[in-house]
Amino acid sequence: MINVGIIGLGGIGKMHFGVYKKNSKSKVVAVSDVNVKKLKGLQSPAGINIDDPSGGNVDLRDIAVYEKADDLINDPQVKLVDITLPTFLHAGYAIKALQAGKDVMCEKPMALNLKEADRMLEAVKKTGQKLMIGHCIRFWPEYEMLRKIVKSDRFGRLYSATFSRIGSIPAWGWQNWFGKGKLSGGAALDLHIHDTDFINWCFGLPKEVSSAGMSKTSGAIDHIVTNYRYGKNVQITAEGGWAFHPTFPFRMSFRAIFEKATVEFNSSKKPTLVIHTARGKRIEPKIPSGGGFQREIDYFLGCIRKNKKPEIVTPEDARDAVKVVMAEIESVKKGKPVPVDKE
Ligand SMILES: NC(=O)c1ccc[n+]([C@@H]2O[C@H](COP(=O)([O-])OP(=O)(O)OC[C@H]3O[C@@H](n4cnc5c(N)ncnc54)[C@H](O)[C@@H]3O)[C@@H](O)[C@H]2O)c1
Repeated sequence: MINVGIIGLGGIGKMHFGVYKKNSKSKVVAVSDVNVKKLKGLQSPAGINIDDPSGGNVDLRDIAVYEKADDLINDPQVKLVDITLPTFLHAGYAIKALQAGKDVMCEKPMALNLKEADRMLEAVKKTGQKLMIGHCIRFWPEYEMLRKIVKSDRFGRLYSATFSRIGSIPAWGWQNWFGKGKLSGGAALDLHIHDTDFINWCFGLPKEVSSAGMSKTSGAIDHIVTNYRYGKNVQITAEGGWAFHPTFPFRMSFRAIFEKATVEFNSSKKPTLVIHTARGKRIEPKIPSGGGFQREIDYFLGCIRKNKKPEIVTPEDARDAVKVVMAEIESVKKGKPVPVDKE
């Protein structure tokens, strides 16, 4: 049994709580939150913008609760610390937990900037503990399917792939931290990074990025559109933003045009994934069960059990995602393409 402590019982912390509960090899033994009201008895299920079957009521009646995150980190019964805190707190607590000899699951984005990400990498190297950043899209069944198609030659070569992740700014956040660009990094770093990371995973790091974007309320980039350039005859673009008005529903989607088929995904449609073949057939593939969060956390728990470093998302991959988003933000500011450093 892997004993888990969750720091930050907000939108995604509650989601993770439900996920660990569904894995018979893990047990949440402690939670921490600065909001003491969240540490009492039964809590409502997670309420975030992505539908996932993993949510459910959070029952804290038999577990240790801490107002101070440091106390959870130092609790000897906790083996895995799960950091579901606002982004500006990721690096500090992840490093403390690694140094305390814990394995760490930490939500995306890895950190607010590369300097913090590098400090986290350094702590992983020094302690030998495991760190996985929650790039859940690598575990999302429809995205996993697209990657398999990209890597195989089932439908021939890819001409174009377009990704989108749009909605209104999260209303549930602690002290409106999403709306403060200095704490969240804006939609570019908080939301759009999911697609940047997925694009890195499918196609490798781009040679350069060319982005346009705008700031609405956070002081950081609230909407961004990027062209990822690979120096090959393939067009990869992504749009991400939370500048839409509150009743505009969150959706994530992609469209990929291959030689012999177009693959289309839209989280707000049923079926979510459709393949339109060149021969005029419409295929609705069966989507594997289990949500992306469940598959992600089950995978990391498996790594801990087998004493293996996570390979599907390495800490270096998560740093790369921050790096490419930083280049995109620079491109918006400069109004011209920005090369992506391969180091
Ligand atoms: N993978 C995904 O799809 C996904 C979805 C949503 C959020 N996230 C990420 O998860 C992280 C958290 O987002 P959220 O939506 O859960 O935010 P949230 O504001 O809902 O939750 C944060 C929680 O942390 C608590 N907190 C704040 N400071 C604390 C401290 N010092 N010690 C202990 N608790 C503290 C707050 O009271 C709150 O309950 C962010 O990095 C976000 O980008 C990822």
